[in-house]
Amino acid sequence: MTIIDGKKTAAEIRAELKVRAGAFEEKYHRKVGLAVVLIGEDPASEVYVRNKVKACEDAGIRSFSYALPTQATQEEAEALILSLATNEEVDGILVQLPLPRHLNADAILAKIPAEKDVDGFSKENIGALALNGVATVACTPLGVIELLKRYQVPVSGKRAVVLGRSNIVGRPMALLLLNADATVTVCHSKTENLSEICKEADILVAAIGKPKFVTAEMVKEGAVVIDVGINRKEGKLCGDVDFEAVKDKASFITPVPGGVGPMTIAMLLNNTVQAAERRQ
Ligand code: GUN
Repeated sequence: MTIIDGKKTAAEIRAELKVRAGAFEEKYHRKVGLAVVLIGEDPASEVYVRNKVKACEDAGIRSFSYALPTQATQEEAEALILSLATNEEVDGILVQLPLPRHLNADAILAKIPAEKDVDGFSKENIGALALNGVATVACTPLGVIELLKRYQVPVSGKRAVVLGRSNIVGRPMALLLLNADATVTVCHSKTENLSEICKEADILVAAIGKPKFVTAEMVKEGAVVIDVGINRKEGKLCGDVDFEAVKDKASFITPVPGGVGPMTIAMLLNNTVQAAERRQ
């Protein structure tokens, strides 16, 4: 059994991106730029945003930070995005989710031009992904595919099961696996015989947000188990997979923390450098 080291892999990718961002700066006499927009005071979001800004600086990417108060209006939020959309120094725009409830998140995100949509949430990018075309892909599922690649896990022809159908993880994850020629099943809260379906998976991706939901009985001997969950249980961070019980059955498994999590930020930097290169 191999424990997939997301922290180490993410550090390698970030070092590669630093070289690419440096080459961009050399060639175009400006830094790659990422605008990070935080609206409101969600404590988890504040931590995520801080980490993203720090990661940019480490990689030689210029970050533009914007914090709007919780009471910000729809018009103020949209006006900010529109000004970033036309700012030539800004290659990528990230609006940290969730937004305060009175705001229409879809309408705000729709103001981000597809070429600056480093989260891959836009209709254009989701559509391009669904058509197996050139797309910017959501950072977390992209991080999962990159881990499979770097650990040389074969995907083509394999039976992949994705637990969860969220717009941010489950759906794009299923499309990426399909584009990589896996046979893909998506399970969700209404799925019947979920355990039996999981048990057929060569590659099982858990993204449902339920602590230790995946037990040893649900996993085939030799399966690759990817845990996207980040849950707090009794003050401790834990994934959607019962790691201790499942690890002896798996051929590869990601831990929480230190698995998929660190890859998300690395893929954000990747999408930002890529957006800059494509824009130039
Ligand atoms: N909130 C939780 N995950 C994400 C993400 O990947 N991108 C953004 N913008 N917000 C998030």
